[in-house]
Amino acid sequence: MKIKLKISRYDPMGSSGYEPFLQAYDVNISAGTTVLDALHKIKDEQDGTLSFRRSCRSAICGSCAVKINGTPKLACKTQVIPEFEKHSTVIIESLSSLPVIKDLVVDFDAFWHKIHKIEPYLNPKEDDKDLKDKDGWWIIKKEDALKTDDASNCIACGCCYSSCNTMDADREFLGPAALTKAWRFIGDIREGKTRRLSKISDEHGIWSCSRCIECTEVCPKDVRPLTAIENLRSEAIKKGITDNAGVRHVEAMVDSVRKTGKLDEAAMTFRTLGFMRSIGMIPLGLKMELHGKMPLPSLFGTIEGIDEVKKIYDEIEKENLSLHAINREREEK
Ligand code: FES
Repeated sequence: MKIKLKISRYDPMGSSGYEPFLQAYDVNISAGTTVLDALHKIKDEQDGTLSFRRSCRSAICGSCAVKINGTPKLACKTQVIPEFEKHSTVIIESLSSLPVIKDLVVDFDAFWHKIHKIEPYLNPKEDDKDLKDKDGWWIIKKEDALKTDDASNCIACGCCYSSCNTMDADREFLGPAALTKAWRFIGDIREGKTRRLSKISDEHGIWSCSRCIECTEVCPKDVRPLTAIENLRSEAIKKGITDNAGVRHVEAMVDSVRKTGKLDEAAMTFRTLGFMRSIGMIPLGLKMELHGKMPLPSLFGTIEGIDEVKKIYDEIEKENLSLHAINREREEK
């Protein structure tokens, strides 16, 4: 069957560069034809100037990631006909949040810079006697290896980076791929230093994630970056790395819901940012107020059934206490 593929073309750097536009190509597609197959067909038979990246053609190298009908995907893993049946169109664009070099090819410099920033290698424990056998080989229990197993499957395709909503608001945010790589090492039983964890707990790190879950939704390898970020947050708290706006925000939120059953946005801002920085947020607060997003603190009562909320907190605390006891016991063994 013939399907019209619309592909974003853009040449910001070429000598005769062109502005972004969508170019349509009619392509003969059969069952099983992937988007990457179709791109090759276009390049070979219709338009040799079309630029895109690919290497393995087997969902391993991560180089063919593009947006297909608005969602970041691997072109070599996505079939054209199901896409067309679902959306009645096939629009192929470059990944978001990375500058276009040409057509579907983006510049990954910022992405790799952030991966390097988290120090993507193991800092082994110095006192590792209990973790090695008599010949000096590491002994890793299956359950310990499984902790970072998903994170190890990342192929650095950039799909999560492209879908990340926080990245739209904060270009300095480390992003889901780099943070997943950080968990790959911080969650490793052999890891010895907490310096890396402190670094990523600062601004633009683990606490900047808005938990929109897009990264986990689009990951073509089921790596679950959001889970990795949540693991890093709980590890940071366990290690006492709590003197930052992210942890203060979480604590303020937990306390607000415990006391009133609601979020007291005003009090949360003061506790998170401190008095001076909160003053600068007053215009935003007034705007939120006008749109009904932030009830006046004086009108802020408790919800009906607040006792039930308190019971939930009590149960969670009991559970956490017993979990801590189990963990402590394990650590002491
Ligand atoms: S070409 Fe390697 S992942 Fe698609």
